Amino acid sequence: MCKVSKLWFVWLGYQGKLHLYFDGLHKKYGPIVRIGPNELSVVEATLIPQILGQQGMPKGPMWDARSFVPGRNMPSTPSLIGIRDVNVHAKFRKSWNRAFAPAVLKEHEESLVTRGTELVELLKGKILDSPDGVGHADISRCISQWSFDFMGDVAFGEDFGLMRTNDKDEHIHSLDEAQLLPALSQMVPWAKFFLGSIPSLTNRAKDFGKFASQQAQKRIAKTTGKKDLFYHLATNMDINDDQPPLPLVMSNSVLAIVAGSHTTSHVISNIIYYLLRQPEYLRRLQKELDITFPPSEQAVIQIDKLANLELLDAIINEVLRLQPPVPTYLQRAPPINSGGRLLNDLFIPEGTSVVVPPHAIHRDKRYFSPSPDQFWPERWYLHNETIVTDRSAFIPFSYGPANCVGRPLALLELRYITAILIYNFDFSFEEGYDPDQWDKDLFDRYVVIKGGLPPGSRLREKGRSNSFSDYLPTSNGLHEKHTLRSSLHFKPKPTTLVFSQEDLKRIWEWEVASGHYQSRRPFPNGSSPDIPLLNPGIPQDPIITTPHASRKQVRSTVGSGLRRTYVDMQSLPHNIGYPPRPVPGSIADLDIVMEQCDFGNNKYVRDCLEVLRIGAGLDRGRRIRRGNLDIWKYIYVEEGQRLTLPTPPKTPPKTISGITPKPSTSLEESLEPPLHLPPPRSYWTSSELATACDPDHPRIFHIFWGGPFTSHPYATILSFLFTQNLGLHLSPNETTASICRPQFWVWIQTGPAREANPKPGALKEMYDSLSSNPWSAPFLHPRFKDIIKFKLWNTTEQLDNIRELKDEWRSTNLFNSGGHVYEIPPDIDEKKTQFMNILKSRRDEDDLMNRIGSTSSSTYDRMRTILSDLARFVLCHRYGGIYLDADTIFLRDWEELWGWKGAFAYRWSRLPQYNTAVLKLNKGSALGTFLTRTALRHGLDFHPMTAITAYAEDAGLDNLLLRLPDALFDSPWLNTEGFQKDRPPSPPLTEFVHFFETPSAASSDAQSAGWKPWDPARNWPDLGSRFAEAERLGRLQAVDAARSSQQAESFSFITKAKARRALSKIIIEGEEEESVEDDKRDLDWATILKRTFESYIRGDSPNMYGEWIYW
Ligand code: HEM
Repeated sequence: MCKVSKLWFVWLGYQGKLHLYFDGLHKKYGPIVRIGPNELSVVEATLIPQILGQQGMPKGPMWDARSFVPGRNMPSTPSLIGIRDVNVHAKFRKSWNRAFAPAVLKEHEESLVTRGTELVELLKGKILDSPDGVGHADISRCISQWSFDFMGDVAFGEDFGLMRTNDKDEHIHSLDEAQLLPALSQMVPWAKFFLGSIPSLTNRAKDFGKFASQQAQKRIAKTTGKKDLFYHLATNMDINDDQPPLPLVMSNSVLAIVAGSHTTSHVISNIIYYLLRQPEYLRRLQKELDITFPPSEQAVIQIDKLANLELLDAIINEVLRLQPPVPTYLQRAPPINSGGRLLNDLFIPEGTSVVVPPHAIHRDKRYFSPSPDQFWPERWYLHNETIVTDRSAFIPFSYGPANCVGRPLALLELRYITAILIYNFDFSFEEGYDPDQWDKDLFDRYVVIKGGLPPGSRLREKGRSNSFSDYLPTSNGLHEKHTLRSSLHFKPKPTTLVFSQEDLKRIWEWEVASGHYQSRRPFPNGSSPDIPLLNPGIPQDPIITTPHASRKQVRSTVGSGLRRTYVDMQSLPHNIGYPPRPVPGSIADLDIVMEQCDFGNNKYVRDCLEVLRIGAGLDRGRRIRRGNLDIWKYIYVEEGQRLTLPTPPKTPPKTISGITPKPSTSLEESLEPPLHLPPPRSYWTSSELATACDPDHPRIFHIFWGGPFTSHPYATILSFLFTQNLGLHLSPNETTASICRPQFWVWIQTGPAREANPKPGALKEMYDSLSSNPWSAPFLHPRFKDIIKFKLWNTTEQLDNIRELKDEWRSTNLFNSGGHVYEIPPDIDEKKTQFMNILKSRRDEDDLMNRIGSTSSSTYDRMRTILSDLARFVLCHRYGGIYLDADTIFLRDWEELWGWKGAFAYRWSRLPQYNTAVLKLNKGSALGTFLTRTALRHGLDFHPMTAITAYAEDAGLDNLLLRLPDALFDSPWLNTEGFQKDRPPSPPLTEFVHFFETPSAASSDAQSAGWKPWDPARNWPDLGSRFAEAERLGRLQAVDAARSSQQAESFSFITKAKARRALSKIIIEGEEEESVEDDKRDLDWATILKRTFESYIRGDSPNMYGEWIYW
């Protein structure tokens, strides 16, 4: 039938289930199906760019016939979406693009909040009016009214007033009805006038046509008003008139209303629907929102922060995937007189059109699995081999030059409205409602129209308050004050505070006086000291108020430090090809960095990286820019004279430093005893120090490693050697006295994570194992003895040497993470030990207590992770320095980060909580005391996201432990995160795995790099003759790996047999050179990094600062 005529589609279109029909066709006939005499439907992701993309085809013939009221009311000029000529479209599109530019979006935020609040109030009103406290409303209808009203603001600067009047004129209904005619006429363009003369079809459209044309007329009549869409369109077209011209407004007003309101209201209603079907997601989303916006009377949902919420974004994506508002007809066709188009080997003759149906491709298990038809938001953020989430097949906003121009606004709306609804209300299906009805009531009319959704809604009782002042401790325990909007069945989670407010203030004072707060950020509410604090970490303020001046609620500190000179980093003439080494003693102003890189404020990684590069002179002046780049200078040195000020009053330190611990008391029993702190540290600038290194601020990098040494820490240490100022380029006669060389301490944990003491002889065993392991042996070379130190981890010894913990840690369980305690079995006798050893030898991957190291992400070693959570705090507090997760790669000298004396921790850009993959604490600091004691009182829970975040925030000390965004540390792979895709860093790799298996098209971009822990062609330390033994061991391992069939895929570019031959040949014949032919052509980013570092160690090339290693 389809071969002969598309009238069949008119019938299907009338029924409104075209999207399901397309799903069925593709399931039955495959990815390319003929659906009409001259039309194909394609669900092949690789073809999307060729159909919809920049090099694709123009809009298809359906757009000649998609008119709401043909020949009447509506102008003959098509709106943007209907323009078939690509050049005309591109020209017009530019104005639309600018009308949705970020600055313009900011302008719309105000009305988004106003209309959003109106929607919340509308629902609250329904609840208040209801005798049983349950609001009964058709939420789908309310959301449609909201979206109309909001579009009225955005497009016409006009309040449509649908929420206010409950849409008494039924505009939404008439728009729904009006969609039928174009949905049918688009199928058979030749019949549009015939269809347009059927009264039952056109009558439905008339009312809406009247409404749209009234709005257009009103808009034109307005002389001044808000900067709405038409203002921006006219401005962008250089129409210097207050009133945009009639044809412009007329032709685009229907588009603005339909495209802008029906789409978003469809998605938000579906979000509510899916959350009600699977309420566990409703709870989880509420929790995510509560953590981000701790509930209180004043709690405000900040739009800026919403883009970073993992679950919220995943839920939105999942609904866009399952229910794209334009589910079927993304139609394109070869241009007229082009003769046709070739899509790979598929020829599309002129006169034939191609449709890409989002609904069908989104449910194709080749692109989304498991369970493509199920609502499962996790697929958007979980990564493992069993999950396929192919973003190249995700096209709810279409793709290419005619994709949805309103996408940025739509995302803003989806996030905000979903957030305020879910934050404020609890919803549940009304009794008697059949949830299956929802799907039945969805009709595909190009844009989907929906039916009613009647959940009962209640005002929500939210989680705990996090605000400092809400939880002031009292002498007899914890005072749980919470500010709720209603008081039903609510049990707030208790605060984590164990210190009195007095002590928290003293912690602040101590840190500021020690120069650990080089920031002008104000104190959080509630933690302000009573008197201004002198701060040697920031320059003297122009007018110094005497520190004795008693002021209540001091919001910031008084600078008493030296002048800051922001440096212009330039390469030196003799080294012009390389960036300059940082100036010794220079400091990164992290206030400036945070302004540019805090993704809580919707900043882009790419922009942050540019600032970081330019400010540090890493670009070597090669970027072409016109503006003044001085504002991006963030590196400074301290200069000038110190001001002598009267010493601020201090609580005299009582006796010796430290806590006087109370014997093990439970948290409920009492607060911490009064805190005794040592005198604050002296703050010295680098030029005031007698030596290059400051003993109070040792430069030690710590990593914690369990199990056999692998290519992960190998690459980390190589990158350390390649980038840090270690003086490796100097001969032994030259002095390194002027350099403060950082050290790299590798903490090796042998045996199972649960063992508190390594067994006797463990140290020797550790060295034996390191020297016989190819990945660690090179670092035992005498050349590195002063900078790389392997140390045996001993939990008992470490905890016994932390004064805050030593008397009490034994009464806790070591393995507590986020409140989840993993019980360690009681002492085991000899027999059991033997049994355990047998178990160990079997390497039971699931044996949490006994596993030795993790071998892959699928054997994620939970216990070791928990131990390492604790170890990083213990190590940094005891020795000072920076802890790094063992898979970190250094890409520049960290001099300026050492210069910043404050504490900091890494956070993911998309999540507000701490992640301590990087952690810096000052040796024996007040903050360290606070953290270790608080963790102890919570059963040694050092989980970064739940525990540490709560400790720091509840105490108002989070500004002392700065959250540094991940762009500073692992920038390239952030490409894969949500909104970053709008402006991805280069190269724009869309999958994390592409850093390791880089698509050849992206491997030629030399701007950026990633890391794979091995080099598939040379999977051994390739460090030259000085490290021949390590290489030999590594090659042997590689041969073994090649023999193992599981590993064979690592060698996919050459056959397994060939790999084995090549490797054995080299081992046997020793000296023979490999052929370049054996090597891979398009190197993965990870491989490029490994080879670059190794080349430096071999002495074949200089490091990133142009220095050659001295051998
Ligand atoms: C969840 C919300 C939205 C979705 C899923 C969506 C989806 C789409 C899709 C699939 C197209 C492309 C049709 C094609 O390729 O043939 C499109 C085009 C368009 N959308 Fe959206 N849209 C949404 C919200 C908005 C909003 C809020 C506006 C604002 C007015 C808007 C304005 C437009 C315009 C003007 C076009 C035509 C673009 C062109 O042809 O260059 N959309 N939309």
